Amino acid sequence: MEQKKIYNQKKISKDYAQRDYLSEAEIQIIEDLKQFLPKFNMLDMGVGGGRTTGYFLPMVNSYIGADYAPNMIAECRKKYRNKKIFEVVDVRNMSKFSDNMFDFILFSYNGIDSFDLKDRETALGEIKRVLKNEGLFCFSSHNINWTGLYNLFKFKNIYEKLVFKSDQRKSKFLESIVKLISFFKAILINIKLDIQNKSFNIKFHIDQLKEAGYGNLIDNSLNGKAKIFYISFKSQIRQLKKFGFKNISAYSINGIKTEDENELNKGGWIYYLCQIEK
Ligand SMILES: C[S@@+](CC[C@H](N)C(=O)[O-])C[C@H]1O[C@@H](n2cnc3c(N)ncnc32)[C@H](O)[C@@H]1O
Repeated sequence: MEQKKIYNQKKISKDYAQRDYLSEAEIQIIEDLKQFLPKFNMLDMGVGGGRTTGYFLPMVNSYIGADYAPNMIAECRKKYRNKKIFEVVDVRNMSKFSDNMFDFILFSYNGIDSFDLKDRETALGEIKRVLKNEGLFCFSSHNINWTGLYNLFKFKNIYEKLVFKSDQRKSKFLESIVKLISFFKAILINIKLDIQNKSFNIKFHIDQLKEAGYGNLIDNSLNGKAKIFYISFKSQIRQLKKFGFKNISAYSINGIKTEDENELNKGGWIYYLCQIEK
């Protein structure tokens, strides 16, 4: 299914609108940017249900939250009772925004991984265009070298997640039924993931992507319906440099700013903060 349709589902947008936390990395990045934020005209791209809005809106000079899913934007407008600062925009075509308009663009929680390499490059080109020279771009992206990646595909983990999700058990009998259904569901999901990824040896498939440095993977997130772009730290740095980004910092899932891949690979995502040179 096309990712936009998935994100635009009412159930999904409502779920995102309930989120209000920040990740460890985001807390650290805000701390590192604290002194500059009051001067920034900010674009919060892929804003989803406005998880980050409540934190950045009071801190920056001006704020626009954008998303290509109209239902996400509808949720943001409702949540913040503000129609003016939220717009339906696709990062791959930001013609609504003029060149050199923003000091800071955030694309949090891996929105940039929603499409393939070609579209990712289009998005980076657009981000570069609407950023002022020396403007900052911060985003997170799925990490192909995450030490726990293969676990997402293991039968045991899929089964346990299903049992945990349906934790509304009322009796021992119901519990056994849930376990039985989850068992068969997990088998089906396992087979489906193999078929969707066109590989009956997921470990080998992941190893191939690791060797390439990036690639798409259907990893059972978004109900196993979406292709997610995964990229290694080194390949991401190379891609950013190709587009003219410099002063690139990476933050691990624990909020540690580092180039140590052992630390970065502890997490399924890596946060990047970089500056454009035009
Ligand atoms: C995983 S959600 C994260 C939402 C929000 N940033 C958060 O942290 O809670 C990714 C968001 O990116 C948006 N997105 C994906 N591709 C996009 C695109 N091409 N243009 C604009 N938004 C996009 C999705 O609609 C979704 O709201």
